[in-house]
Amino acid sequence: MVSYKELGLVNTREMFAKAIKGGYAIPAFNFNNMEQLQAIIKASAETKSPVILQVSKGARNYANQTLLRYMAQGAVEYAKELGWEHPQICLHLDHGDSFELCKSCVDFGFSSVMIDASSLPYEENIALTKKVVDYAHQYDVTVEAELGVLAGVEDEVSSAVSHYTKPEEVVDFATRTGCDSLAISIGTSHGAYKFTPEQCTRDPKTGRLVPPPLAFDVLDAVMEKLPGFPIVLHGSSSVPQEYVDMINQYGGKLPDAVGIPEEQLRKAAKSAVCKINIDSDSRLAFTAAVRKVFAEKPAEFDPRKYCGPARDLMTELYKHKIINVLGSDGKAE
Ligand code: G3H
Ligand code: 13P
Ligand code: ZN
Repeated sequence: MVSYKELGLVNTREMFAKAIKGGYAIPAFNFNNMEQLQAIIKASAETKSPVILQVSKGARNYANQTLLRYMAQGAVEYAKELGWEHPQICLHLDHGDSFELCKSCVDFGFSSVMIDASSLPYEENIALTKKVVDYAHQYDVTVEAELGVLAGVEDEVSSAVSHYTKPEEVVDFATRTGCDSLAISIGTSHGAYKFTPEQCTRDPKTGRLVPPPLAFDVLDAVMEKLPGFPIVLHGSSSVPQEYVDMINQYGGKLPDAVGIPEEQLRKAAKSAVCKINIDSDSRLAFTAAVRKVFAEKPAEFDPRKYCGPARDLMTELYKHKIINVLGSDGKAE
């Protein structure tokens, strides 16, 4: 058993309480490799933003659980080396799909876990979430749960349709499970294709897809039922068109990729939404930078020469999110 406290990590309790009070959101960035982690820490340290490092089940399998834990511990030390005196870094399991996986992460030094039982029937979601909460809370590890189903692919769980969270269920769910935060479904979805062209309109000037608005009425109703309770938004990448264009220009193929417009995320961040999940945008930045080097310098074969530019572009992206979208800069001196 390794306690996250020994690794210099923090859970989400205080982060979320401050974020709700201050009208901003904590960035939750997924990582799978060293360059992503370096970019996240550099951006957070330079902006003094609290940050959640997210590891999915797939990432844990890809990178190895032991290595990931030491990477997170290293991230805290790296942050200090960069001059961030009191780093506020949380290591979080993204979309845990079983009690065993959540327990293993708690035992391995995670400071927060998500149990995503949103695809199960309501009572089963409650039972599994409560089981995880009961275990995690013994070690002061915070737990995120989910109610409602996002469209698209949720880690290894796939759903073709989105079912918005039912506001009438949230009080019962939060009370009976004891979860610390709640991910809700209001129209966001995972990946780089959040809406079909049929769901969007087209900007007549640019020809770009314009997505439909998120269901802020559902968010408002949830906040009314659970005042001051931490709400989480998954699937919140904006799919920056400059990265999509770069990828397509240098041999990629991402037709009609579309994300959540930043102004909608800005609005959400000012509410009780205190955690905003971003993964796809980082994948796009990484891929765009690598494709550019490959196209322009076909003789290059030193990975540092293409992973380096990818890291720089991701750092720029994370800083932009922190400062211009979530407003979490300067909140963890
Ligand atoms: O919500 C899903 C995250 O983007 C993680 O995706 O399972 O491919 O690592 P992944
Ligand atoms: P995106 O695919 O929109 O980046 O969402 C990531 C996410 O929700 C991770 O849990
Ligand atoms: Zn997610």
